[in-house]
Amino acid sequence: MATPADRDTILDLTQRLLVSITRGDWDTYKELCCLSLTCFEPEAMGNLVDGLEFHQYYFNLPSGPTPVQSTIVAPHIRIMGEVAVIAYVRLTQKIADGKPTTVAMEETRVWHKQGGKWKHVHFHRSPAK
Ligand code: GLY
Repeated sequence: MATPADRDTILDLTQRLLVSITRGDWDTYKELCCLSLTCFEPEAMGNLVDGLEFHQYYFNLPSGPTPVQSTIVAPHIRIMGEVAVIAYVRLTQKIADGKPTTVAMEETRVWHKQGGKWKHVHFHRSPAK
């Protein structure tokens, strides 16, 4: 039976993952993800991406001088034994064309406990309507 502590763990790991993305912290992102992570996301143009190489490209880009902040809104967490699913809307605040801008994305992320450690194994991101 999943406990509130299990849910807190999944929320914390997801928050860490998003912070690693906004900070361009590849080491943390890689540590949290399974090497065979799969995903659908707008950057993949309708294709299922398999593995980390596609994601590393974005971490290798020069980081901008402007702050970026992600907020997880109304997360729903379901834990099924060694598998957990978290779904939420992610608000990303950034500066675009010199103005503060917010982008909303619907995200579903799947975590799998492997060798006692939760690893991110699949996600789906799409623009919130
Ligand atoms: N685009 C990478 C991720 O959302 O995990």
